[in-house]
Amino acid sequence: GHGTEIKAQEWSFAPPFGHFDRAQLQRGYKVYQFVCANCHSMNLLSYRNLGEPGGPQFPEKAVATLAAQAQITDGPDDTGKMFQRPGKPSDRFRAPYPNDQAARAANNGALPPDLSVMAKARPGGPDYLYALLTGYSDAPSDMTMSKGMHYNAAFPGHQIAMPSPLSDGVVDYTDGTEPTVKNYAKDVSAFLMWAAEPTLEERYKTGARIMIFLIVFAVIMFLAKKAVWSRVH
Ligand code: HEM
Repeated sequence: GHGTEIKAQEWSFAPPFGHFDRAQLQRGYKVYQFVCANCHSMNLLSYRNLGEPGGPQFPEKAVATLAAQAQITDGPDDTGKMFQRPGKPSDRFRAPYPNDQAARAANNGALPPDLSVMAKARPGGPDYLYALLTGYSDAPSDMTMSKGMHYNAAFPGHQIAMPSPLSDGVVDYTDGTEPTVKNYAKDVSAFLMWAAEPTLEERYKTGARIMIFLIVFAVIMFLAKKAVWSRVH
């Protein structure tokens, strides 16, 4: 059959000592902003999160600039009207549609899910996201596709309403990373992993401290036992 292909990728944030690659998270945000954010919300994130330790750590000024690039709907004002204004770091990420109904209307009836915790919502996590984003091809000749659906090797059932969102060169990379579908997929998957697990680095560090403590403690107890029992023959 058309097996679901989800290969494990190498991630900088693999346990037990992994950490997020800042440059990768910054590129991943760019991919989200220019491509995914046209259809997907990330309601749990605010622009200021982009500057916090453990994440992409954009400098404060860059965070303000990134926020200001979004037109946020605010209000009502004194006259009872809603209005648009440039985003502030304290704003949530701008959602592409005012509600689910509008989102479905723009996507052939399918709802692009919120991506805030998507990296933890599906089996395979970031490996699945990478496989999904790189999994588009023509459907096998023996498969009948429903109208408006796209063949994807990683998606359960292999028919997905999301058209292939990435193609080589669609997002500018300024740090020398090659602007390929594979790199976009990897970077945005890492970014979504951080979004879903913002305290991952802190957890690994705590784990490492606990392991070091336990090793030191075991050595001390071993030496103490030897000292206490040294004259018993
Ligand atoms: C579904 C990620 C861009 C429209 C999804 C899913 C993920 C995802 C993880 C859920 C798949 C699942 O249920 O297992 C992304 C990422 C993007 C991106 C990372 C940017 C690189 C887009 C764009 C559009 C779009 C640009 C609109 C043109 C949709 C729709 C669904 C969906 C309609 C629902 C599909 C279905 O249930 O059949 N996307 N997406 N996505 N996405 Fe995207």
